[in-house]
Amino acid sequence: MTFSTTVNGDTQNLDLEGHEASVDVLREQLGLTGTKLVCAGGVCGACTIQIDGVPVAGCLTPATAMVDAEVTTIEGIADGEELHPIQKAFLAHDGLQCGYCTPGFIVHGVAFYDHWRAEHGPLAPRPTPDRHTIAEDLAGHLCRCGAYEGIYRAMAAACRGDFDDGPVEPSRIDGPAKVTGQAVYTADRYPENVLHAVIVRSPVAAADVGPLPPPSDGAPEWIVDLLPDDRRVRFAGQALFAVAAESPADARQLAAEVPVQLTPRPFVIDPDEALADDAPLVYEDRASRKLAPNSSEGPMLPTRWSGNRRGPTPTPFMGTLANYRVRKARETGAVGLVELTLETEPQLHSAFEPHCTVADWSDPAMLKVWTSSQAIDHIRHLLTERYGLGDHQIEVNADFVGGGFGAKSVLSPDLIGAIELSRLARRPVRLVLDRREELTATGNRPGTRTDISILVADDGDIQAMVVDAESHAGVAVNGVYGALCVIVYDRSPRIARDSDVLTNAPPGAPFRGPGGPTYAWALEQAVDQAAHQLGWDPIELRQRWDGNEKRQALYRWARELDVWSERPVTGSQTGRFRRGVGVAAANWLYMHDPTTEIEVGVEGGRLVVTNATQDIGTGSKTLLARAVGEVFDVAPTDVIVRAGRSAEGIPHGPTSGGSRVSPSLWPTAVEAAENLRDRIGTDLAAVPDGTSVSARRGGDGGNRLLRLTLGDLQVGQGFAAAVHVSEVEVDTLTGKTRVLTVHGGLAVGRVFAPVLATSQCEGSIIQGIGLALYENQILDPHTGLTLTSNLEDYRIPQLGDVPEITIHFHTGGWEHVAGGGIGLGEVGTISPAASVGNAIFNATGWRPTVAPVRPDRLLDGLR
Ligand code: FES
Repeated sequence: MTFSTTVNGDTQNLDLEGHEASVDVLREQLGLTGTKLVCAGGVCGACTIQIDGVPVAGCLTPATAMVDAEVTTIEGIADGEELHPIQKAFLAHDGLQCGYCTPGFIVHGVAFYDHWRAEHGPLAPRPTPDRHTIAEDLAGHLCRCGAYEGIYRAMAAACRGDFDDGPVEPSRIDGPAKVTGQAVYTADRYPENVLHAVIVRSPVAAADVGPLPPPSDGAPEWIVDLLPDDRRVRFAGQALFAVAAESPADARQLAAEVPVQLTPRPFVIDPDEALADDAPLVYEDRASRKLAPNSSEGPMLPTRWSGNRRGPTPTPFMGTLANYRVRKARETGAVGLVELTLETEPQLHSAFEPHCTVADWSDPAMLKVWTSSQAIDHIRHLLTERYGLGDHQIEVNADFVGGGFGAKSVLSPDLIGAIELSRLARRPVRLVLDRREELTATGNRPGTRTDISILVADDGDIQAMVVDAESHAGVAVNGVYGALCVIVYDRSPRIARDSDVLTNAPPGAPFRGPGGPTYAWALEQAVDQAAHQLGWDPIELRQRWDGNEKRQALYRWARELDVWSERPVTGSQTGRFRRGVGVAAANWLYMHDPTTEIEVGVEGGRLVVTNATQDIGTGSKTLLARAVGEVFDVAPTDVIVRAGRSAEGIPHGPTSGGSRVSPSLWPTAVEAAENLRDRIGTDLAAVPDGTSVSARRGGDGGNRLLRLTLGDLQVGQGFAAAVHVSEVEVDTLTGKTRVLTVHGGLAVGRVFAPVLATSQCEGSIIQGIGLALYENQILDPHTGLTLTSNLEDYRIPQLGDVPEITIHFHTGGWEHVAGGGIGLGEVGTISPAASVGNAIFNATGWRPTVAPVRPDRLLDGLR
């Protein structure tokens, strides 16, 4: 039936059957795709709209509630060209990264603003809402990028009246599109004549799958196979087939009816049980092991297999001596021997825009793909090879990407499913995962178990380190992280032995600093324990062991912090609430893409910069605009940036992974811009259209101390460094830990875009807090099904969990690198969790060995 409503001031007729959710009707019938669908369960707030001025979750509110009502979506918040003060504040205070959660925050934030202003009067001076008030009101909103500090600042400033009048300088050039709902992500694309696709997934953790019957025997017309060559299921939720139909509901119905022939097999979920002699093997032979996905970004080096164990692979530096010293110390009960076993649970990426692809292969001579990816050039290369396409026959686009965090750089089932269905049907196909799929099958930071031994002499010198690192990446391998432990404190004999233990759990995938936070959880707590056992200041002990000059500068900064000098004596408190302060350090590789190319030209008197890289919320578009604008003394917002498209003739762009984007883009863009300026001068209005020059990144000159090139990734000289100091309050009655403040110090050289860099570092800390305290993928041990398959059960940090964060940049030490600075997306997320662990130890005297430190674990520990 047709009903009438008013949306953003316009009368609209809605065609309703009665069961639809508001968000679906707004997006699919009215094309108002600024309202995002993320959790579909009323948990995250991304789909917030106002009905008669009241913010509601569009996923839970039936579309019939919009009938005869005044509905406001993000597209209706601005008054024509004039942005609302809340929108301006989000732009100025960088209250966003990828922008996928932003419409929901703003639509709700406007209601909060109206309420605040009504309560406190329209005239200055007005009170500023405090963090607690803002957190309480916006409690139903989540941001996976962790842009919360910017959101706090924006909400406070807007309510105070800072943005009542006048224009605003946006922190990022794509910010205006994100705060107005105009940014079109892959999931927002509904092309004409589109088919809707869904993936049929395995309900069991291990099985053999028979062939599909032909359509005449019940199989759908549009169906493609997504199984590996051996047609075996290895985890519950694995993709089997993709089917397409005329509507999402029809596709879901079809998927439920696909006649799948499954022959279940024995499986194992628990890593300990997987090592038993009679455990079912996840990969039975050499051929099937080649199917195992890579859970890291590192190369898959050959190593031994024994049952479900792959490895151990040793990384020794005088390893025999290290083993000997530790064994001897154990036998003699040496006071300086620290031995701990530490574990982390799998952490889910949970990017707010799910994995999704729109593929159009209607024209057999041209494949067009839109995909939520952090590696569009790389994906285009892989697709070109897979389908034998010419350079002119394929383009891959990602105009806006709602987060990635490492899990969106491979040929995922949504990509292959959409492309192959489009080839079959010769129509555009849209395939968007739902949250359950996203939280089950798209990757995780693997769980780990680390046995670490550190031997320290009476004078505080480190004498040996032995690390046995076990990665639990489900059906994936190569979760190498133990090796990262033995490249930090380099002044003793040491050895790491890395193993994968295979189970029928969903595969791990690279996750922001792969192996980083998990190595630091073990190593940095062991160092803390050594300091405690031997009566050293934990920072001073690190200063003694650490050969990295940049980290030495950060240690000096950290020791000056009041919160550090005033920290309590470990275990000295007895009350219910106990305060503690902990420190942890981080080490990470410096990487860039030497094949990056950038073109800078002039069109209509404006600078145009072109590169195929994508912006997943880190700000790569803004970085390009800033680099070029700086050379010509032009505001970044006046530079046209063409990014997010990989096609013939478009200069190669780096993958958003390995912290490689900034050190690849910045110096290349500057060089191209300087070459252009040398050629045309600075009077852009006088330059004819089409004038352009290009530059290529290349290496860093003569520095060859450490140079390793893996495809388009070059590991450069030097290590990125960070130090985090966290302050916590532990409630010994409820077992809850609250992080009060975090000070993050990073040594990454020149910071190209300070506001965006600060936001990245704040988000890194917040994801680290998630790892330390909340995030835990849980599987049903009897079925292997993911139980934490929604954002209610899988708890990520929310506004009220966010401590006050300060970021300090040490800018020296990278003069040998082109541009003078390196990436920071990863090094900033390595040590926060360990610093929280050490702070809990300082508060309580109890060492939290398993992350997340859930209340039940803490209470058990204290008992
Ligand atoms: Fe909030 Fe990305 S900016 S989810």
